[in-house]
Amino acid sequence: MQANDNDTTTTTTTPLLDNIYEQGTVCGHLPNNNNKYNSFLFGLGGTLFLFPHLAILLSLPPVLRRRGAPYLPTFINKQNVMFDQIRKHVSQSQLLHNMQQQTQQASSQLRFVDLGSGDGRVVFRAAREGIFVKSVGYEINPALHIIASVRRFITPRYWFNTNFYMTDLWKTNLHQYDVVAVYGFSPIMERLGHKLEQELRPGSIVVSNVFEIPGWRVSDNNMNGIGKGVHLYHVPECFDKR
Ligand SMILES: C[S@@+](CC[C@H](N)C(=O)[O-])C[C@H]1O[C@@H](n2cnc3c(N)ncnc32)[C@H](O)[C@@H]1O
Repeated sequence: MQANDNDTTTTTTTPLLDNIYEQGTVCGHLPNNNNKYNSFLFGLGGTLFLFPHLAILLSLPPVLRRRGAPYLPTFINKQNVMFDQIRKHVSQSQLLHNMQQQTQQASSQLRFVDLGSGDGRVVFRAAREGIFVKSVGYEINPALHIIASVRRFITPRYWFNTNFYMTDLWKTNLHQYDVVAVYGFSPIMERLGHKLEQELRPGSIVVSNVFEIPGWRVSDNNMNGIGKGVHLYHVPECFDKR
């Protein structure tokens, strides 16, 4: 008897379901749209989940080839220390002094670069400081370069005072920059020091997060507190042997 009841249910519901699936709808075309919407959400969620992992994965080759540091962002406390130091030393810089003799707008002619700019946060911070005519980031990792470029693209205030280039820092010439920021790691610091020594002009400033540049004389470093380990160098005084 029960079996018969079940049979009846099956035979009465199947045509209805068939009808629904044939039309692709319960009321109108909602299920099809829902499927597309779900696929879109699934794709977006997957991309958002995978992208940071991809960024970390892609930051490994330069490390293995001893061409740069893995991706580690500079957090806000460290940025505050960095830019406090930069502001203080830019105002004392010989370069600024030379420029002030030529123009009233001296501070707005300064150029900032971050070597290995990651997601662009340090470049954006430099732009917000309002002391640089241009803040530039060089980044080798395509995923991080895309993140920085998208953020720049959707924020009009950064359109004219920032630029990002997907390039190897070793293939750039740093001659035009007045303030150079780097968050490297120990195996590259000595070689980086030689590059900076050859390319930077007198009066330029180098700020190195965490790692010191071997053989250079530091002008300012914050070895205490939250933002400890920011080393600031003046060119050419930093080349005087310690
Ligand atoms: C420690 S992270 C610093 C990121 C960013 N400057 C910050 O402070 O938030 C170092 C960055 O350098 C990049 N990098 C490593 N080797 C590089 C190279 N040869 N040329 C350009 N960028 C490089 C890495 O992909 C990574 O994003």
